[in-house]
Amino acid sequence: MSKQFLGETAPLVPPIYQSSVYTIPDLDALDAIMNDGEPGFIYARDAHPNAKRLGQLLAQAETAEWGVITSSGMAAISAIVLATVQQGQRILASNRLYGRTVQLFTQELGRFGVTTEYVDANDLVAVEIALQKKPRLLFVETMSNPLVRVVDIAALADLAHKHGCLLVVDNTFATPVLTRPMELGADFVMESLTKMIAGHSDVTLGFVGGNDADMLPAINTAVSIWGLASNPFDCWLAERGLATLDLRMRAACKNAEQLADWLAEQPGVLRVWYPSRDDHPDLAVAERVLDGGFGHMLCIELEGGRDAVNRFMHAAPGIPFSPSLGHSSTTLSHPATTSHRYTSPAERKRQGITDGLIRLSVGVEALEGIQAEMAKGLA
Ligand SMILES: Cc1ncc(COP(=O)(O)O)c(C=O)c1O
Repeated sequence: MSKQFLGETAPLVPPIYQSSVYTIPDLDALDAIMNDGEPGFIYARDAHPNAKRLGQLLAQAETAEWGVITSSGMAAISAIVLATVQQGQRILASNRLYGRTVQLFTQELGRFGVTTEYVDANDLVAVEIALQKKPRLLFVETMSNPLVRVVDIAALADLAHKHGCLLVVDNTFATPVLTRPMELGADFVMESLTKMIAGHSDVTLGFVGGNDADMLPAINTAVSIWGLASNPFDCWLAERGLATLDLRMRAACKNAEQLADWLAEQPGVLRVWYPSRDDHPDLAVAERVLDGGFGHMLCIELEGGRDAVNRFMHAAPGIPFSPSLGHSSTTLSHPATTSHRYTSPAERKRQGITDGLIRLSVGVEALEGIQAEMAKGLA
């Protein structure tokens, strides 16, 4: 806003620039912005102040050189692929990923002549063998959705680079509070800001961070041309969420760790998946990769399959069935019918995503309240 209104004052909270287009003084000013990188905005699908600010803040949090905001987490993955992969090239991906990511790679990119191979990213020998086919990207989740399998990002980065491949890490479950993939050698980090970072289930956004300055124009071009851009209000909300991310994440991780141990003792719970526990296959990797907590996500396997899950939902309405994650209070989801609905039954079985599996996104409310509601559901 102009000096005429604000004088020497300025708002403590940044304004929402809810404008799809900007006014430009003349053609020379336009050229200076477009050709010479002078500050300024033209059209919100290309760039706008709220996204620019948020991108910078997140890049800082992720220790990346640059950051770009996208309309969703899926848009962030799309932007990376569109900026880096050519027709005929290959992607190597973890065989434990969010279901929509797998659909993007196999179903959508397959139509454009890109082949995706899936590998157990916790088996470094298998990864190295697969890298010999010279994929352009290796794509993994720091902590996988839903069974919170943790990968050794530094080891994967070394292997990928040895074979001329770029490592992309989806850090949505961990957030930069627990690990910063760029510090461990990733070439790109991406986040669904929809989850813990915005943190209040009222935003859909994504983030791409990187270090290679040459890649930034390609990402920006993909975001603009493929229509993956964010809107100002969501960016403003996400910036507000980011301010308390550290506090929320640490409180939620503490709750989740205690809840996981408590749940393991409860009747009707066949198995608990949480990476701080001795029975989690990746405890040792998690201790190396994560710092300050083991995450706010955990899974439990209920005795009695789908019927037991339905009974749990009716008996414990205080833990809403709400198929997302990262809300301020605890919610649950059912991966077999939501995030992995379009994954084949055989593949779900291989991953351990059974009909009795409940995924919990643990919030920051008092642990006793979560336990009391869980006890109702389990009874
Ligand atoms: C691990 C992970 N990555 C990416 C996404 C996609 O994010 P969005 O829903 O913001 O597109 C999700 C969504 O659930 C997710 O869980």
